[in-house]
Amino acid sequence: MQALSREWRRKSQRTAFVPTMGNLHAGHLALVGQAAIQADRVVVSIFVNPLQFNEPTDFKNYPRTLDEDLQKLADYPVDAIFLPTEAELYPAGREATTIVEVPGLSDVLEGASRPGHFRGVTTVVAKLFNCVLPDVALFGEKDFQQLLVVRRMVADLDMPIEIVSHPTLREPDGLAMSSRNRRLNAEQRARAPVLYQVLVRSRDRIRQGEADFTVLEHQAGGDLSAAGLMPDYVAIRRAEDLADPRPGDELVIVAAARLGKTRLIDNVRV
Ligand code: PAF
Repeated sequence: MQALSREWRRKSQRTAFVPTMGNLHAGHLALVGQAAIQADRVVVSIFVNPLQFNEPTDFKNYPRTLDEDLQKLADYPVDAIFLPTEAELYPAGREATTIVEVPGLSDVLEGASRPGHFRGVTTVVAKLFNCVLPDVALFGEKDFQQLLVVRRMVADLDMPIEIVSHPTLREPDGLAMSSRNRRLNAEQRARAPVLYQVLVRSRDRIRQGEADFTVLEHQAGGDLSAAGLMPDYVAIRRAEDLADPRPGDELVIVAAARLGKTRLIDNVRV
């Protein structure tokens, strides 16, 4: 992969990279389409990274659909599909590998609910960047905290890579596209859009002048529970770094909730 990427660079061609864990949906494919606009060469990786799963059953049950994924990518201008194995990426074993960690930002919200998750993400993304040697890498805004954590890692470690984000793609009823959606049964799927509806309602109330964010967060959590979801968190934060907001800050409302065994996350900007 490095040899290929170096060859492209020698020809002054730019490489755009879309890291994925497979089970590709329209959200991933939009990133691939965007990648083709950003650069001369497009690389997509598919690797279900064991390091970022804090629950072994979640890793085991994560949908692996390589044949379908390759078929979907065949319709896009992709120059290389990088499919490393676990033994190749973690030759010393999962426990013994060198770790890349962004402190602080990795420990709140998603990070607090899923200890070690972002450490796993930053470690694998740093490794994938070193394999693919991209000029630009694309990430979806649905995993908003992941996007901020990766941006911080790239800045802190002086990685010469531009991080480009792409807005969340949604189903017609508002549910954010996610590989996890396919685990919902019909009844849960019908209920799932409430997560986005609750976020939009909170956003509208802020736009109408509601300034008591604690009340809004509490009400949003109550609305999720009333709809049969188990809220993990609903938080109104500064969009730049997820800190507590001050007047005038651009905001993001982030939420995570369980629906049966499936954990859904979403966010809206204000
Ligand atoms: O967003 C994902 O699919 C994963 O966290 C990523 C960035 C591919 C790292 O494994």
